[in-house]
Amino acid sequence: MELLRSPGAMRAWADARRAGGARIGLVPTMGYLHEGHVSLVRIARERGCGAVAATIFVNPAQFGPGEDFDKYPRDEARDLAMLSEAGASAVYLPGVPDMYPEGFQTYVEVTGASQGLCGASRPGHFRGVATVVAKLFLAAKPHVAVFGEKDFQQLAVIRAMARDLDFGIEIVGAPIVREPDGLAMSSRNAYLKGDDRIAARCLSRGLFRARALFDGGERDAGTLVAAAREEIAGEPLAKLEYAEGRDPRTLAPLEGRVDAIAVVVAAKVGPARLIDNITLRD
Ligand code: PAJ
Repeated sequence: MELLRSPGAMRAWADARRAGGARIGLVPTMGYLHEGHVSLVRIARERGCGAVAATIFVNPAQFGPGEDFDKYPRDEARDLAMLSEAGASAVYLPGVPDMYPEGFQTYVEVTGASQGLCGASRPGHFRGVATVVAKLFLAAKPHVAVFGEKDFQQLAVIRAMARDLDFGIEIVGAPIVREPDGLAMSSRNAYLKGDDRIAARCLSRGLFRARALFDGGERDAGTLVAAAREEIAGEPLAKLEYAEGRDPRTLAPLEGRVDAIAVVVAAKVGPARLIDNITLRD
């Protein structure tokens, strides 16, 4: 597994792989990896990528003032061992000055998909995500890039960007990997201690309640979303940020009778801001 630390090194690796006829898969991450991240590497391989590059970069441009950029957990040695084990061919670990040198002044803004949900409470977040992912796409030149459905809105933002800017990259969405008790895996779960960790189950519990209603024939968007919202609102250690029903493809808000719906939720539990979602369809 090759370690690449500059955009130039990443580009040279990509050019060599392409010259050799390999299909390149890209898995962008911010490190402190878990099984969810590892699953993305496997999915890239299953999609026929003979060369899979993972990236580890805690991107300052997507953190707002007062957010957890400085505290974000990091463990490079462990991450590299996990990626090697998962079959990654290369890992791109640029430093902040490599990605944002002095004089940096170019940003990518995806207007529609970035609005509402997490975009409402984290102004500038998706601009930072789109900008860094565009840079990663240009350096790693992948044929396929894999992103988790855990970050549902992020996936929609990246799909829109890849389409609008003619990146010509296949964007693959990967299912959410969960802990045995239902909590969606997240690097930020490391912030959850004691009672907060138990309380954090309320997000997935709410989504599973919505799923049970849907499986029982309930099709009213408001009723499905209310089931998730009530479960989170009923947990004293959780502070609900939003619970909404969206079109799984377009992210458009949904009301009334639905055939397919993504129930998306965000809540603060102790020091951790957690997000989760579930797509319900016939
Ligand atoms: P990060 O939070 O490290 O997540 C990296 C990738 O792993 C994302 O595509 C995310 O959706 C996916 N992921 C996280 N938890 C998952 C889970 N439980 N199951 C499946 N996939 C999961 O998302 C980012 O980093 C950044 O915003 C990034 C795209 C790298 C840009 O900086």
